[in-house]
This record gives sequence, C-alpha cells and structure tokens, in this order.
Amino acid sequence: MMAPTFFESRNVVKDLAPLKAHRREWKGVHLRDLFRDDPGRAERYSIQAGDWFLDYSKNLVTERTLQLLHDLTRRARLPEAIAAMFKGERINLTENRAVLHVALRAPETADFRMDGVPLTPQVHAVLRRMKAFAEAVRSGEWKGHTGRPIRAVINIGIGGSDLGPAMATEALRAFADRRLTVRFVSNVDATHFVETVRDLNPEETLFIVASKTFTTQETMTNAETARAWALDSLKDPAAVARHFVAVSTNADRVAAFGIDTHNMFEFWDWVGGRYSLCSAIGLPLMIAIGPEHFQDMLNGFHLMDRHFAEAPIESNLPITLALLGVWYGACWDAHTHAVLPYDQYLARLPAYLQQADMESNGKSVDARGRPVRWQTGPILWGEPGTNGQHAFYQLLHQGTKLVPCDFIAFCRPHHPIGDHHAKLLANCFAQTEALAFGKTAEEVRAEGTQGRLVRHRVFPGNRPTNTLLAPELTPSTLGQLIAIYEHKIFTQGIIWNILSFDQWGVELGKKLAGRILPELLDPTADARGHDTSTNQLIRRYREWSKPLH
Ligand code: F6P
Repeated sequence: MMAPTFFESRNVVKDLAPLKAHRREWKGVHLRDLFRDDPGRAERYSIQAGDWFLDYSKNLVTERTLQLLHDLTRRARLPEAIAAMFKGERINLTENRAVLHVALRAPETADFRMDGVPLTPQVHAVLRRMKAFAEAVRSGEWKGHTGRPIRAVINIGIGGSDLGPAMATEALRAFADRRLTVRFVSNVDATHFVETVRDLNPEETLFIVASKTFTTQETMTNAETARAWALDSLKDPAAVARHFVAVSTNADRVAAFGIDTHNMFEFWDWVGGRYSLCSAIGLPLMIAIGPEHFQDMLNGFHLMDRHFAEAPIESNLPITLALLGVWYGACWDAHTHAVLPYDQYLARLPAYLQQADMESNGKSVDARGRPVRWQTGPILWGEPGTNGQHAFYQLLHQGTKLVPCDFIAFCRPHHPIGDHHAKLLANCFAQTEALAFGKTAEEVRAEGTQGRLVRHRVFPGNRPTNTLLAPELTPSTLGQLIAIYEHKIFTQGIIWNILSFDQWGVELGKKLAGRILPELLDPTADARGHDTSTNQLIRRYREWSKPLH
C-alpha cells in the first residue's frame, strides 16, 4: 500500500498545536465584541461561490484563527491532495481505488483518466443510455409486460444506493412529473416494501435494483420479494425483463439475479457508494425530474468542483466550512454538527449527509493505521427549520454543549403563498442572531424580569453558525450544495490524515448478522456460542416469535 506523500510523514498533533495554543488565548472573547469592534466583519467573512452565498461571520474566529487554519491546509498539503484526487490517483488506499466522482459530472471533453484510460466517454455513454431509458419511461413508450405504461418506479437500494436519489427526488419534487410515482425501498424490514407497494399495480410498476456490489443483504432480499410480488400477478417470468432494471458495478451478479444485463446501467469501482448520486444511481431521480433537469444538477455539481479545485484557499467555500469544523472539533470539544435546512424539500438532506460525512470520516486510525490522538468526524444530525425550533433548539441555545450549525435557506420559494416564506426566513435569520449574540442578564432585567428567573432567561450566545443562502432551490443549486459538502468532507479527511473513502466499520455487524440469521431461522440450531447477553436475546426471540395459535 503506497501512500501518496500528503498522507506520509504527517504529524497532525504537531500541526494542530498552534491552533490549540491560540484557543488557550481566546478566553472571554464574545461574538458581541467581535461584531461591535469590526463593522466590516460580516462582509469580510462571506464567500460567494456559484449561486451559494456563505456568511461565516458568526463563527468564533478572528483573523489570527483563519490564518492558522489556512496554514494547516499547507501543512496537510491539501492542494496536492486535491490534485491527486482529480488526477485519479488511488487515494482510497485500503481498497486500492481511485476516487473520481468528480468525473461523473464533468463535460465529455474533460480529461479524467484512470490508469491512462479516459473516463468521460464511458460516463457519457451511460448517461446517454440513462437519458433514453428515462425518456421512454416518462413518455409511456416503455411498456410493462401487459402493454401498460409505467406509472410507478420503485428504487430498491440502501445506503449510497438509496439516500442520494431519495433525498434529491424529495428535494426536487417541484421539478418532477407528478403523473409518475417514484418511491424508495431500503430497509430489510418487510414493512418498508409492503407499505411502499400496497397501492400499486404490478402491471404499471418498474423496479430499479440499485446496488454497487449487488450482494447487499437488504437490497437482495427486497429485490427477491419484489420479483415474487410482480410475478404473483404477472405470472410469466419473461415479465421480469419489462419490470426490473439494475444499477450496479457487478454484471455477473446482476445476470445471476435474472436481470438481463441489457437492462443494467453501469458504474465503476472508482465511484464510492455515498458519492454516487451523479452516476447511474441517480436513475430514479432522472426518471422523476427528466434528463434536462438531471443535467442541470450535474452542471451544478461541476461548477462547485471547479470552485473547489481552483479558488484560493482563503475564498474557497468548501474548504472554509471544513476548516471551521476542524477548529471546533480540535479546540472547542464540539462532538456534533447540526445541518438545519429551512426548506421542507430538503427534509432528507441531514440523513443523506450523515452517510456522506460519518461513513467517510468516522475513523479512529490515520492513513497509516496508527490510532489518532485528535478528534475526527463529528456526529452529524439535523431537521428542517422551523420544526427543529420547537424540538431541540432549546439545547442549542442554553445547553451545556457547543453545537456548530449550518443554516441553509433559499430566497425565492416554490410556493409563494401569503407570507409563509418571509416567516420561514425570518425564523432562520433570527436563530443565527440569537445563537450568536444571546441575551444578557441586564437585557433580561431591562425587560422587567427580576430575581432568580433572570438566570433562566439569559441566553449566553457565542454559539457558532454558518448561513448558506441561494436564490432558489433548483437542480443546479442542489448539485452545488451537495458538492460543497462532499469537498468539505474530503478536506477534513486530508487534514485529519484519515482515509475518507473506505468503510471497514460496517463489516463486523454484517458478518455477525450472517452468523445469527440461521440461529433465528432454525430454532433447533445451537445458539449458545455468543456472549451471555446475545445468547439470551436469541433465546427470548425464539420464545416470543412462536405463533400465538
Ligand atoms: O454497509 C455500507 C455500504 O457498504 C455503503 O457504503 C453502501 O452505500 C451501502 O452499503 C450499499 O451498498 P451497495 O450499493 O453495494 O448495495
């Protein structure tokens, strides 16, 4: 395993030391003071990239902090690492793979290569097949086995083969053809499948079986159940060809499942599952919103890829977000990060980013396998505003934990009804103002509160937020936004000297489930070989799962 130089000879503890020293000097500095003393702060600490405007002025940073953070990128050889990713070097060291999701959204003329082989012709060949297929389904030209047009498309996949298209299909619902129903089944819990198809007609339903490996237990189980459900009414096994298509890197497995490989849309091992929305994994989204809108989204991604690769570090939006996260993790003991979209269409964005961020940077050994002695990826979580305000914001404002937050909003709504949108954005801006500046005891008293209650009504403030604002939620602005987070995650991985593109941490549970499964299916099987807790749970399951009559 030959590590590129930016992974080698790093001493992250030493690299973070100047920041930690700076943090020790920070004492008592409040955002109130920083804004009062510097009328140009908001403007200076803002970045425009593509359609996105980032205001990061409400962060616990000074010029010195930013200077130290920028130094850190040089120590981590970030520019070299970015170049290596774009050049197709095998920076996913433990799987010996390149990381080239940026090639998926580049124009055909772009020169991306893997081992000298040009990639964009392959990428665009698949895109053209996807576009033709999506058009055929949308127009009704693609018929089901009994000659009826398709009315419902069900994507069966999990993790990266589900969250991206599911999130984006919801996000871009305003651009979708409402005559088509597009749904997602991921959980191996049969409830998910049953509830998803219960009102559907098999004659008019198309399944997309999406799995990079085509071995994932949940997806294969749901796909088998879907085939049985379809054949139960269509009767003829030849119907599978009209009602099942596959998205995968594994043609042999697709064929073994019984799907004609002519109905397979390919992607490649240099596309990580959680970075695969722009590949054929985006097929259900393309069917929902149409090829042109899908292309607009790809262009949005590409625009932000160019910004990431070309903008100076000081005005680079994803890098700035990444550095702020590093600062809070290393020096402020922040263990979580909240993503708070003020847009109902982005309801699934936090779930999508959970996989992107936590599966990438939830690591505790460095690139050479040595235990890390610094914080790596945060716990990412969130809910759309304003709902979250009535649930967990109490803790954000007055709790004992520092939770850096990203507030995300759009200026023009898709549904300009009354003053809904002004109210939505008023809340969004108000929250960042309240978190930053809080309310002092004097201010509370001035409003007429006296005695002990004063302490309860004080807001300490000084709680950091980013605000990301775009004119409107469109396929392009969504693509740009996702690319911002992808590159933020990449940057943090390089700074922490961890490998962001493998996911060994998901393996053990899968393996143990494989061992437990036969012990649950066959009540006579010996199931005493685990620890006493697991043995006991299996025994209890066997007792309670017996039919009642
Ligand atoms: O279990 C985690 C994981 O491997 C993810 O990384 C991946 O996105 C998901 O499972 C699904 O994998 P596949 O697309 O191969 O079915």
